[in-house]
Amino acid sequence: MKILILNGPNLNLLGKREPGIYGARGFEDYFAELCGRFPEVEFEYFQSNVEGELINKIHEVGFSWDGIVLNAGAYTHTSVALQDAIRGVNTPVVEVHISNVHAREEFRHRSLISCACLGVICGFGLDSYRLAVEALIAHKG
Ligand code: DQA
Repeated sequence: MKILILNGPNLNLLGKREPGIYGARGFEDYFAELCGRFPEVEFEYFQSNVEGELINKIHEVGFSWDGIVLNAGAYTHTSVALQDAIRGVNTPVVEVHISNVHAREEFRHRSLISCACLGVICGFGLDSYRLAVEALIAHKG
């Protein structure tokens, strides 16, 4: 099984960025742990601060890979283009957020991508990514 972990804007700063909200751990460190937990899964990790690069990556894997775990960061709340990209491919996408966006500012309550995703996981810290991988494995059956 091949799963892409796709992180959007500002998530390269995990560990340094607002640690009270997003925690003190960098993503590369967490990614190594995630890979170790699912030896049967082939993972790739890609992060970009650029909306079009996220879209290009979805197009690249979206017709052949088994799943995408997407934390679109703030583009979650703004990007019709990302919604269209998710709708345009066959690979199931799970939307994740580290924080509970529904317990935060009102502008974070709306997601423009949820309606195109298989499901949404938010609020469990970095463990949200593991839960999303479990969901993709269960979905594949
Ligand atoms: C986030 C939540 C978003 O509202 C925010 O813009 C982020 C991170 C999260 O993982 O909690 O950049 O997606």
